[in-house]
Amino acid sequence: MSTPIVTCDAKKKAPSRRLFCIRPVAAGAYSRRMAAGPFFLNGFSLRLAALAGGFFAVLSGAADADPGPGDAAFGLPPLAVESAATEGQVALGKKLFFDARLSEGRQMACATCHVPAEGFSQTDRARPDGNDGRPLRRNAPTLLNVAWHGPFFHDGRSATLEAQALVPMTEPREFGAPSLDAVVARVSGLEDYRGRFEAAFGRSVSAETLGAALAAYERSLVAADSPFDRWFFGKDEDALPPAAVRGFRLFRGKAECAACHRIGATSAPFTDGKFHDTGIAWRNAQKAVPDEIDRGREEATGRAFDRYRIKTPSLRNVALMAPYMHDGSVKTLGEAVRFYADGGVPHKTLSPLIGPIDLSNKEIADLVAFLKSLTSPHAAALGRVKP
Ligand code: HEC
Ligand code: HEC
Repeated sequence: MSTPIVTCDAKKKAPSRRLFCIRPVAAGAYSRRMAAGPFFLNGFSLRLAALAGGFFAVLSGAADADPGPGDAAFGLPPLAVESAATEGQVALGKKLFFDARLSEGRQMACATCHVPAEGFSQTDRARPDGNDGRPLRRNAPTLLNVAWHGPFFHDGRSATLEAQALVPMTEPREFGAPSLDAVVARVSGLEDYRGRFEAAFGRSVSAETLGAALAAYERSLVAADSPFDRWFFGKDEDALPPAAVRGFRLFRGKAECAACHRIGATSAPFTDGKFHDTGIAWRNAQKAVPDEIDRGREEATGRAFDRYRIKTPSLRNVALMAPYMHDGSVKTLGEAVRFYADGGVPHKTLSPLIGPIDLSNKEIADLVAFLKSLTSPHAAALGRVKP
């Protein structure tokens, strides 16, 4: 299922409530653009999509309600196109997400590595084990708010959630299927899926409908509306403890975290959608055998310029998903803040935005308190889901 897109003149009003127009927004430019327009996001009818590596924002002249405190999307940028997903498609995607029968050895589901109760990541190990029992190369990113995190993977090599969802199926060390056709044939033969794809999509099981169903479920994992959002955007003075308020001032001030983990005037993605070299991939490369070197973004683009660059992760719900970084090498939030205070891993291509920061132990604790205030009250309910 492709999402219907209407492009239109940004200056003209959308013709009706049901018609939305979108325009590309340069990655990293959210805050300025978002502040400029009559944007809105309705957590149910609208979902964000990051398409073909570019970001799109919904623009409409209709006066639909902005998400407010209590809405799961409160505080997230309106990077949406109207989702074509129906409840039936989301439910089908959820069933697939938990279904180990999708994997060749029937021992692994999406939820094995993206554990709902662990922030849709994995908290008990640095990197998930492959089906051979050995750790994969990278840490499993959260799927909370994943619709806002494209392009996907730590190196951004998948443009859409639909495309991404098919990748693990034929990865030899993940689902291990010989081909997508083999997965389609297997799912077609499962009694409890009989008629489900036809009912949800009007079409039978195919790689396309498998990807669309999983993407529909993933887009439903919306968890913002954190204490920070209620304090900053909702102007609720009591929503944030004093330590977190001090941490916020450091985050945007002296520590300059917000240079990459962006906070806008009307919403906060906590990422710039870009790729940076903080030194972790470079450090790992110094000791890895050539075949195992993780080149980061270069693996997606083929450009030496992108070597060791990793996508800036959003920091929403970050307290739920230790250990941190693309290799899971940082165990706690305190350790993550110290990593930055120490200036990352100095080397030739280190991002110029990273350098030693003079932070006292109390300031480090304040920054950690701020990071902990980014946890959504909606995450727990999403994490309790069972198929
Ligand atoms: C064996 C563990 C494992 C399984 C099974 C698995 N994943 Fe992942 N997933 C990962 C890892 C590790 C990454 C990061 C890989 C990379 O960046 O190269 C990832 C990345 C992702 C991303 C990118 C998120 C982002 O912010 O860029 C999405 C989306 C995702 N997985 C969804 C799924 C879905 C849907 C399934 C089931 C079809 C699935 N995963 C199965 C481990 C797993
Ligand atoms: C140059 C851009 C940049 C700046 C500045 C920056 N970060 Fe990051 N941050 C990143 C990137 C890129 C990653 C992913 C690195 C990796 O996975 O190897 C990251 C990862 C993180 C993580 C781990 C998140 C996870 O889910 O694994 C935390 C926590 C974090 N940053 C907090 C901070 C704090 C606090 C500051 C300020 C002291 C800061 N960052 C400054 C770009 C930046």
